[in-house]
Amino acid sequence: MDFDLIISNGILVTASEVLPAGLQIGIKDGIIACIGKDLPVSSTTKIIDCEGAYVTPGGVDSHVHLAQKNSPTGDGWETGSRSAIAGGTTTILAFASQSRDDASLYPVLEDYHRKSRGQSYCDYGFHFILTNPTDAILQTELPALAADHGITSVKLYMTYDAMKLSDRNILSVLLATRALGMTTMIHAESHDMIAHIIAGLERNSHTAPHFHALARPRIAEDEASYRAIALAELADAPVLIVHMSSEVAMSHVRDAQTRLLPIHAETCPHYLFLLSAALRPSPEDPFSGAKHVCSPPLRHHPSDLTALWRGLQNGTFTVLSSDHAPSSYASPLGKQLGMVDGIPRFSAIPNGLPGLETRLPLLFSQTPACLPPEQAKLSLPRFVELTASAPAALYGLAGRKGSLAPGADADLVVWFPGARGRRVVRQAGLHHGVDYTPFEGVGVGNWPRWTVLRGRVVWDADADVEGEGGGVVGEKGFGEYLKRGRGRVLVGRTGGVPRGMEVGEREFWL
Ligand code: URP
Ligand code: ZN
Ligand code: ZN
Ligand code: ZN
Repeated sequence: MDFDLIISNGILVTASEVLPAGLQIGIKDGIIACIGKDLPVSSTTKIIDCEGAYVTPGGVDSHVHLAQKNSPTGDGWETGSRSAIAGGTTTILAFASQSRDDASLYPVLEDYHRKSRGQSYCDYGFHFILTNPTDAILQTELPALAADHGITSVKLYMTYDAMKLSDRNILSVLLATRALGMTTMIHAESHDMIAHIIAGLERNSHTAPHFHALARPRIAEDEASYRAIALAELADAPVLIVHMSSEVAMSHVRDAQTRLLPIHAETCPHYLFLLSAALRPSPEDPFSGAKHVCSPPLRHHPSDLTALWRGLQNGTFTVLSSDHAPSSYASPLGKQLGMVDGIPRFSAIPNGLPGLETRLPLLFSQTPACLPPEQAKLSLPRFVELTASAPAALYGLAGRKGSLAPGADADLVVWFPGARGRRVVRQAGLHHGVDYTPFEGVGVGNWPRWTVLRGRVVWDADADVEGEGGGVVGEKGFGEYLKRGRGRVLVGRTGGVPRGMEVGEREFWL
């Protein structure tokens, strides 16, 4: 075969193993054609010499907010997707968000297609956020949208006035999505606990950014996570609890899994690397803590960080996503919305952090590729599984994305050999459309040297494209919309009997 590109002299890492050195990847027409040795080179074959570095699948980031209506200074498609490839992520799943007054999902989808079409540097798909799940949407639109447009997942909120669903509505959605084999993502925080605490804090004038963490305590995440699991158990439907930040909430997932319920969980780099102390004012800027406002909030205790790392190691978490949901800081419509006439009001700060570009390097830094084995927190295959293969499988892209296997899209990251990729994360070196990173000053052990999307080099760290010692060499608009199939991890029902119910009881009302 005449290969377009051969990736040579790398150490290939899959979700199950680190392959022996000496293997090459042969790429033809954007697809991995074969993995082998001494592949034939023609006059038109390009070769990438990895110089012994690791090669991993392109990242799949399954939780990304771009150009969302409610986020005027958030990241957009061009800049967000550009930052994705600069950080080794070749596929993103972003949200098409229904407003309460949207009676149909079709105009919502068209709106998000219009914003992303021709803009993306990486491949992408959508999840729907449902805020008004009418019978017509659940019974008629979702099945058609899954079949015709490949949208096979939804996200539901248990908090935020503009998005929250009642438990009863959540049950209706779960019963509809389980019939379709769709994945339901749930943002689990107790709305009423939080609303009550915020009112009390405001009454007492405790409105600075760091009170945000106090307003959304771990028990609010804990209670709602358990409730989401109970609803899933009652409906016999699989769910994934998104962006989990704390140990007790995570332990409910672990407990549900030991009872063989299809409960999955996601966490994000900021919950693994940062603590709520970051919400405190800096000497130069009393409002700087606003940069770290996200929900659930960063937690107080290092024990939560330790617990979450354990959850990544032992399989409690299925995926690791960025929850890239930033707002600019120094903009009157961004984080500064929480500063009114010089008085801070944390409850008005838009929630969410940037993290699309830094997700892979931060995690890769904790593998034996960058640390002595006894200090590494994740094995290399587990890194691949959490950041690429599992999200691809979970969201209906298995076989195509997230794996270094013949037949899959040739999406991959070539890292730097040895310590040559070491960097300190700086806002100035990032490619997103917002004005800060919460990881400013954090050292990473490596950075993608090349990112390849469907056989095309789209990021080349050594190309001096922008005069900054690194560059995006892909093209805006090269990213394609992905029609997804059914998820492979979260499918089917358990057929089990919910705890506390009798056999056959549910059949009276289902
Ligand atoms: O703080 C966050 N995560 N805001 C973004 C929206 C969400 O809930 O994922
Ligand atoms: Zn959320
Ligand atoms: Zn989110
Ligand atoms: Zn650049």
